[in-house]
Amino acid sequence: MKFYCTQYHFDLLKDNSRLAVFYEAIKEYCKNKKLETAFDIGCGSGILSYFSQPFFKNIIAIEKDKESYKKATENLKKFKNINVINNDAITYKYPTKADLIICEMLDTALIDEEQVPAIINAKKYLNKNGKIIPEGIINIAQLVNMEREYFCHVDVDSRINYELLSNEVIYSKFDFLDDFSANFKTNIKFKINKNSIINGIKITTITKVFKNIVCGSTPMLNAPFLIPLKPKKVKKDQVVNIKLEYIMGKGIETIKINYI
Ligand SMILES: C[S@@+](CC[C@H](N)C(=O)[O-])C[C@H]1O[C@@H](n2cnc3c(N)ncnc32)[C@H](O)[C@@H]1O
Repeated sequence: MKFYCTQYHFDLLKDNSRLAVFYEAIKEYCKNKKLETAFDIGCGSGILSYFSQPFFKNIIAIEKDKESYKKATENLKKFKNINVINNDAITYKYPTKADLIICEMLDTALIDEEQVPAIINAKKYLNKNGKIIPEGIINIAQLVNMEREYFCHVDVDSRINYELLSNEVIYSKFDFLDDFSANFKTNIKFKINKNSIINGIKITTITKVFKNIVCGSTPMLNAPFLIPLKPKKVKKDQVVNIKLEYIMGKGIETIKINYI
């Protein structure tokens, strides 16, 4: 099928690894089930509604951006079971309950995009035994020496140099079905692996898409990022404690990071 979309959504559609895990997850959840309603939150071009439409009587696809909404409406117009809505998923009052919430508004550590507030709202309308795709995320941190002194993403083809200087620490795990707050705060303990100077922390996010379908970063999904820290001289085997805070869905300006 031909999809009309913005340049951003075109890049998302070219990312086969990202699409493959969502396609497999939707198929896996839907197999051998009689299903009524799905929500596709932040539907963009409408691709995930398209993957879901053979399995549901009714799909509510929500998109906040007017241009993307128009394109999704055009792309999905022949599917009478899909209703595309131009609205904000954080405040939207759904007219019905859902068996499945699909929400691909992911970004690294869920800080910049509104995945968390959109899911907190939609969960109020999830049927008992209903599921969410993706199911959750795992966040990993590592101390680094970075050549830049400001926040930056390390995309697959970026040329940003940095050296990894500690062990990797899984500092948080979220299951979207659990109750959790968008305000995140933790202390992380690292072990230094080399005499050097640390001046940053690398954050990597793994997505638990569904059951055993797991996804690391892909060209358009969850590029790891580097957050600067005050430079500190460190020795091999030294333990360094860091306090990290942010608000999920409120942007990278909410990140606070300090030594303890
Ligand atoms: C990463 S794109 C994913 C698009 C599509 N789901 C896909 O997988 O290709 C996220 C989409 O969510 C939309 N979005 C962001 N915040 C939103 C909100 N609060 N309510 C509804 N849509 C939102 C964006 O405009 C964007 O189209």
